Amino acid sequence: MGNLYGVIGCPISHSMSPDIHNLAFTTLNIDSYYKAFHIEPSQLAEAVEAMRLLEIKGYNVTIPHKVSIIPYLDELDVTAQIAGAVNTVVNVDGKLIGHNTDGNGYKRSLEEMLLKPLQDNKILIIGAGGAAGGIYYTLAHYGCRNIDITNRTLQTAEKLIEDCPYENNSTALSLLNAEAQLGHYDVVIQTTAVGLYPNINEQPISVKNAKGSAIISDIVYNPIKTAFLKEAEQLGLTIHNGVGMFVHQAAIAFELWTGQKPPLNEMAKVVHDKLG
Ligand code: ATR
Repeated sequence: MGNLYGVIGCPISHSMSPDIHNLAFTTLNIDSYYKAFHIEPSQLAEAVEAMRLLEIKGYNVTIPHKVSIIPYLDELDVTAQIAGAVNTVVNVDGKLIGHNTDGNGYKRSLEEMLLKPLQDNKILIIGAGGAAGGIYYTLAHYGCRNIDITNRTLQTAEKLIEDCPYENNSTALSLLNAEAQLGHYDVVIQTTAVGLYPNINEQPISVKNAKGSAIISDIVYNPIKTAFLKEAEQLGLTIHNGVGMFVHQAAIAFELWTGQKPPLNEMAKVVHDKLG
């Protein structure tokens, strides 16, 4: 008999995770199904126990439960420890293990674009929230020593750097300074919610000072091309949108649950077809 998987979040009706996981199950002939579950914050503890009882083999966790679910799990994988948040739960014979596949998903996706080894790139991260932290610490874990952080609230960027568990030479910059000094960076990663649907005309900084060879990356995938990426494209820069991260984080979760590699290109195509 097949297994049941899912995603818990609130709101959840617009999640594209069921589309891409169910496509992967069908393509690989795996008799399993992935469903979106709307879980309010007040229902989280009950939901986790219910899913354990129902032997749901694995599920993704999204806003607003990524941090608050931690006390209800039995163990945290190092990826969840690094991020301080969980986006994937694996049920191993009733034992619930929290992982975070966002950072590694982003890294895998970015590496498809890079012209030189990851560690040789000078990187600027825009934003200092949960998403920025997960990416920053993952890249630092893999040996990136040249990552700076810019954020509207400078102290939050400083705190992120201070809390980094890896050796680093990171500097916190104001948005204004970052914009002026953008020419120093090989990769610029936009992690804030600025530009997220429906505020599709907003961007945190301009990329007009970026160097010609720079990769301009945005983790937002709805819209597929944010105002930030549109400006970069008009300037002739290489752009990298959030679809890659979304598909790769799902793929790593899928691999943890099934031990099999899902069809990445087909999954990305589903997202592009729906949102593009
Ligand atoms: P997430 O977990 O998705 O990263 P978060 O923890 O709420 O979300 O972080 C949001 C990030 O977007 C922060 O870096 C925030 O900047 P502040 O630390 O100054 O709040 C940034 N952000 C949100 N709205 C913004 C805006 N209008 N302009 C610039 N930055 C903004």
